[in-house]
Amino acid sequence: MCMHPANATDTAPWPQEGRERLILNSPIGWVGTGQADPEPAVIERLTGNAVMMMGDNPALPRMPERPTLIDFFKCRFGDFTVMHLLASAKRAMDEGHSETVIMACLLHDISNGCLVRPDHGYWSAQIVAPYVSEEVAWAIKYHQALRYVPDDSVGYDYPSNYDWFFGEGYRHELPAYIRRDAEIARAHRWYMTSRVVTMNDVYFFEDTGPIDPEIFTDIIGRNWQQPEQGLGHDDSPASHMWRTMIWPNNFL
Ligand SMILES: [Fe+2]
Ligand SMILES: [Fe+2]
Repeated sequence: MCMHPANATDTAPWPQEGRERLILNSPIGWVGTGQADPEPAVIERLTGNAVMMMGDNPALPRMPERPTLIDFFKCRFGDFTVMHLLASAKRAMDEGHSETVIMACLLHDISNGCLVRPDHGYWSAQIVAPYVSEEVAWAIKYHQALRYVPDDSVGYDYPSNYDWFFGEGYRHELPAYIRRDAEIARAHRWYMTSRVVTMNDVYFFEDTGPIDPEIFTDIIGRNWQQPEQGLGHDDSPASHMWRTMIWPNNFL
């Protein structure tokens, strides 16, 4: 488990000891924002004692040697994502949904926690796919498209906060791939699994109170294949994504 506040009692040495460690933000964090490409200025600072950061960053809690899913909730994901995922999963649990649905709710926006926001359903599905059932990953992938599509039969409406986020009218501007994938999802045998994720995908802007991720320990134990070497250190098709979250500031 990581230590909070970040490494307060951590006296082990950090990588590149004695160096000034420079961070270059990933392009996805600034492209299109009007911010200038930071690379030339950072490279210019690369003289004397300065190096590009590689490895553990003292500004972040140090991850355990063999990180688990819960370690990422505690040490890496942003507060909002943590609250949202835990609240969605708890709601599914309280409503008596299956462990498949609870897991999909717990993980549905995981890419927003510490990696990328665009196409977060697709990214989130890939991040977790090697460790969950095919149905959980499928439900996560398609929840993104299904969020935009009402289903009267279960009382699911277009989210009112999407009008707030994207402006009224955006529902008529959906890109072709979203419309296509919503159609694919509706025709699939696992449709309801993904649909229930969207129904529990509530933004709790009011304070829900803290939810201890440990309440999901047993469900995770039965539905998550924790790699022996730890997430990020295994050799799955997604381990590099977990490594990127362990070391988000690595230059390469
Ligand atoms: Fe989502
Ligand atoms: Fe969500």
